[in-house]
Amino acid sequence: MIKVALLGCGTVGSGVIKLLADNKHVIARRAGHEVQVTKIMESDPEKVRALGLDDGIIAASIDEILNDDDCQIVIELIGGIEPAKTYIIEAMKKGKNVVTANKDLIASHGKELFEAAEENSVDFNFEASVGGGIPIIFPLKLSLAGNRIQEVIGILNGTTNYILTKMSGEKEPYEKVLQEAQQLGYAESDPTSDVEGYDAARKIAILASIAFNSRVSFEDVYVEGITRITPLDIKYGQELGFVIKLLAITKEEEDKIQVRVHPAFIPRTHPLAVVGGVYNAVFVRGDAVQDLMFYGRGAGQMPTASAVVGDIMEIVRDIEKNNTGRISCTCYLNKEIAAISKLKAKYYVRLLAKDRPGVLAGIAGVFGNHEVSLATVLQKDSNQGYAQLVLITDLVEESDLRSALKVLSEMDIVGAVENVIRLEGVSGHES
Ligand code: HSE
Repeated sequence: MIKVALLGCGTVGSGVIKLLADNKHVIARRAGHEVQVTKIMESDPEKVRALGLDDGIIAASIDEILNDDDCQIVIELIGGIEPAKTYIIEAMKKGKNVVTANKDLIASHGKELFEAAEENSVDFNFEASVGGGIPIIFPLKLSLAGNRIQEVIGILNGTTNYILTKMSGEKEPYEKVLQEAQQLGYAESDPTSDVEGYDAARKIAILASIAFNSRVSFEDVYVEGITRITPLDIKYGQELGFVIKLLAITKEEEDKIQVRVHPAFIPRTHPLAVVGGVYNAVFVRGDAVQDLMFYGRGAGQMPTASAVVGDIMEIVRDIEKNNTGRISCTCYLNKEIAAISKLKAKYYVRLLAKDRPGVLAGIAGVFGNHEVSLATVLQKDSNQGYAQLVLITDLVEESDLRSALKVLSEMDIVGAVENVIRLEGVSGHES
């Protein structure tokens, strides 16, 4: 029997206990040993009692777990940076294998953790840190290891995907949909991390590090959230055949890594366009495998527990074969991060401009002077002497577009630059 200690018995921790109990026999057959949680570190004993376990399983301190030589696996589900980081590193020093769902920790302190795992020849598995129940870490590290990965594009945040899906279907403004999502429990009372894109940024930092074998941290990710998206932009995008998504994107170009999270218009025929509601998906393109997509529940008790239990079982197999520490850190390169200003993409731009002869020519001239070529120009609703102008650019460099928009925003024919949204997945030409 393999003994396991659980740090944190909240929603996911309770799910892990339930899954290990419900599927006990099949898990034992598949992994080669029975898996038993013998110690739980949890400050609220009610959470442990609610699972039908008695208080004897609650560890008095982390040392009780660290000093238990029979315990071979520690599952860290406390979240946050400290004390989780110290507990994980101390557990590794004691020769214990670790499973975590802690994206914040890996996205900011991955290097330290992988070094500790390597020094102590222990397994360090973190499948649940990205995409909840969706298997993506092990597929990138193992099944797809023979490919040069060209891009990974994810819908990695269920809250924002729910909000954008609702805004698209019901044409309601962001604030109203956010409120509804909070009432239904789909959005946190403080939604900042989700709606500003930070949660997705942590996840794409982890995926980028694996895909391109070079450490990418949360701080490296360019981030824009969804708070400025309006029903009007969604409507105009739909008329042009686009769907709005908060995308987490990483690509390798000219030996640099692009890593960014922002709202993007994708063609309604793109595989990610149909990923609605709280669902997550990860689209991967590799040179051999070509296009792949992983789809599923990116959060929730049992989907996340599914990933944690899979990680535990991998460790049990490695323990059995005396083979822990088999997959060490995959970041053996040190690549530069590409600046967002150098991005070459197509853009949707919405301007409020004076509705009178010659205005369009003036605006087109400014774009032309900044190397920004336009593919589509549409004049939409007109109101009180101003018209909504919707422009789609050709492939342009972001810094050129920003310079043009700066000049335009200071011209008296332009009321305001209302929104700028990048296009993604358009004819495969964007970088
Ligand atoms: N808050 C995340 C989401 C789930 O909305 O998808 C946890 O990473």
